[in-house]
Amino acid sequence: MGLIGAGFVGPHHIDAVRRLGYVDVVAVAGSSEASARRKADQLHVPKAYGSAEALIADPDVQVVHNATPNYLHHPVNMAAIRAGKHVVSDKPLAMTTAEARELLEAAEQAGVVHAVTFNYRGNPLVQQARQMIAEGAIGRPHFVHGHYLQDWLQYDTDYSWRLEPDKGGKSSAIGDIGSHWCDLAQHVSGLRITEVLADLTTVIPQRKRPTGNREAFAAARGDEAHELVDIQVEDLASVLVRFENGAKGSFSVGQVCAGHKNDLVLEVNGASASLRWHQEQQNELWIGRRGEPSALLQKDPALLSSDAAPYAHLPGGHQEAWADAFANLMRDIYGFIAEGRSMKDTRPPAFATFRDGLRANVIIDAILESHAKEQAWVRVND
Ligand SMILES: NC(=O)c1ccc[n+]([C@@H]2O[C@H](COP(=O)([O-])OP(=O)(O)OC[C@H]3O[C@@H](n4cnc5c(N)ncnc54)[C@H](O)[C@@H]3O)[C@@H](O)[C@H]2O)c1
Repeated sequence: MGLIGAGFVGPHHIDAVRRLGYVDVVAVAGSSEASARRKADQLHVPKAYGSAEALIADPDVQVVHNATPNYLHHPVNMAAIRAGKHVVSDKPLAMTTAEARELLEAAEQAGVVHAVTFNYRGNPLVQQARQMIAEGAIGRPHFVHGHYLQDWLQYDTDYSWRLEPDKGGKSSAIGDIGSHWCDLAQHVSGLRITEVLADLTTVIPQRKRPTGNREAFAAARGDEAHELVDIQVEDLASVLVRFENGAKGSFSVGQVCAGHKNDLVLEVNGASASLRWHQEQQNELWIGRRGEPSALLQKDPALLSSDAAPYAHLPGGHQEAWADAFANLMRDIYGFIAEGRSMKDTRPPAFATFRDGLRANVIIDAILESHAKEQAWVRVND
């Protein structure tokens, strides 16, 4: 494995892959040789490269992980595909639908394994909810709703490349965290989003951009030099959604919601019962019922369905968390590679592929279009 971009999330890719026990972490690439060497030493990785191209050219690297800022997803993923390497791309797959489509086509043509880190799929109780819905345990879903709220951009001194359209894309909140919510909603419900109606807001229209370097998600220091910049992208959004079976839905995303850290909630109401999963209490699944008491299913491999139980690695009462779900995702991806399976298999992988990544990009674009048209319903066409 070779990692390109060892900022906030990159080291979690390495940690997760190391937990598999049968994959060598060979190299790290950064924006300069010095920064790559520093990161490689911190992470105890033998080789360091000052460019993505150099890492991709290393014959010891068979799987390329791309955890760079969004604007580098397309060029870096494409270079890895052209070199015949398997690719694990962080989300969103690309900045635009056109870029995402190119990547999917190229990866399919090259016959490499392609994955996008929609990591909430790796959670045991997410898999439990998915299997219960697929088996009809809650009846036909008619309402799929929730939110994904954070507060790390609440102050005008908070700043990130995610707010710059040329680095993060035309959307901030929807692209960054709405993409996770939409993938999760579709994965769990088994239903595709077919139409959206969106209302986007930029709560903080001007921000103080630091003129020096700052780590992702870090707060501003009091003495930090800055310049004032206009913000073009949304930090708050609400979206009505329609699903292919006629089910209705809605979700809100926000990065300016005080007290909400990584507050992802998905609820599905069906004809006979409801399910709700909350990332911040991820060891519980709420099962809502009318004619009998509702229940809280605790994460316990002994209580989970056959498909979900392998995602839990500790007995009940021993809490599992974000990093464990991320490792489950890598287990799914590398298991698929190690078994020599092809992306053309009729049995689809549990992890998100570039096809799912494309779908997320198409939904983001439809949401932006809906807002631009002054809140018109827009079809999601992929
Ligand atoms: N799956 C998740 O839950 C999750 C969580 C956080 C971030 N992400 C995604 O991961 C990506 C990175 O986000 P982050 O928060 O880690 O950002 P970050 O800014 O902390 O890290 C990005 C890293 O890429 C490096 N980099 C920049 N240009 C480079 C280049 N030309 N070559 C090599 N490396 C380069 C930077 O030096 C930095 O170390 C984003 O696309 C983001 O959407 C996903």
